[in-house]
Amino acid sequence: MQHIKPIAPERLADFLRAMPKAELHIHIEGSLEPELIFALAGRNGVALPYADVEALRAAYAFSNLQSFLDIYYAGASVLLKEQDFYDMARTYLRRAAADNVVHAEIFFDPQTHTARGVAMDTVINGLHRACVDAQTESGISAALILCFLRHLSEEDAFATLEQALPHRDKFIGVGLDSSELGHPPEKFSRVFARCRELGFHRVAHAGEEGPPSYIWSALDVLQVERIDHGVQCVQDALLMQRLARERIPLTVCPLSNQKLRVFPNLADHNLGRLLDAGLVATVNSDDPAYFGGYINTNFVQTFAATGLTLQHAYALARNSFEASFCGPDRKSGFRDQLDQLLEAYQ
Ligand code: HPA
Ligand code: ZN
Repeated sequence: MQHIKPIAPERLADFLRAMPKAELHIHIEGSLEPELIFALAGRNGVALPYADVEALRAAYAFSNLQSFLDIYYAGASVLLKEQDFYDMARTYLRRAAADNVVHAEIFFDPQTHTARGVAMDTVINGLHRACVDAQTESGISAALILCFLRHLSEEDAFATLEQALPHRDKFIGVGLDSSELGHPPEKFSRVFARCRELGFHRVAHAGEEGPPSYIWSALDVLQVERIDHGVQCVQDALLMQRLARERIPLTVCPLSNQKLRVFPNLADHNLGRLLDAGLVATVNSDDPAYFGGYINTNFVQTFAATGLTLQHAYALARNSFEASFCGPDRKSGFRDQLDQLLEAYQ
């Protein structure tokens, strides 16, 4: 690896903000800011159990994953029309482009919406149109990944896949999210096998709160290409070796981990340990409206708290391109952009 000289903390923060990056772990429903939740509630005549934006924001105090999910699903209840899904995704993509995100792979949770009577067409068409328009506006590329909710049954996941298949050209892959503990990857072995036959990319949340065995089964049973979170892998030396050897990316979300108390403090985060062990770790925002910041805030705060260096910053941006599902030409264009920026900082 090339030698990269350290730079002063303020310059490092500038570099982190300026560097081109891909965001690979963002739940679009988790980008709904309280202001937009209230605007959509007003537009759609949905009553919210909070008096105003401040009262809603004050409820964002979480003790674990489930305490967050309860409020996250409640926030999504204001999404009813295609335009709502469009506005949400368009708002996120503008915000991401401002953080120099050049490519985003965006999770969406259709079951959260179809269970309330919203049509699959409404969800996918709104999100997809936002991705197309964002690329025209700012050049950012964006693709959708359909996530199955793991607290629901595999049968429900199969029904969701069926409903989505008429739109198969509008999403590139499938994922697995929601309550991890008690819902191991094996529960979804058949639906992931079907998605593999259909040619979809596959990712899964594993090892956020769950044990290393969930990461092993996401790899061996679901045959995923990336692990979302995955930070619990450090408990298992053999697993660490495998992730490094096979270059299986981890989409790490430091502020999410802090807010959901996966680590007591940001300073205790194991991102540096993952990178130093040669893992293809990346930095992402997960649910930025709920966890206190978009991708650049994740970078800047994590580097300030843990003392990571310019060498780590460069590795994280490179990893984000490698881990993405972009084609080789786009990846190499991103790497050139990054190298040009690095030269200006050396
Ligand atoms: N974990 C699991 N499910 C989720 C998350 C997460 O961090 N965010 C939104 N759904
Ligand atoms: Zn997530």
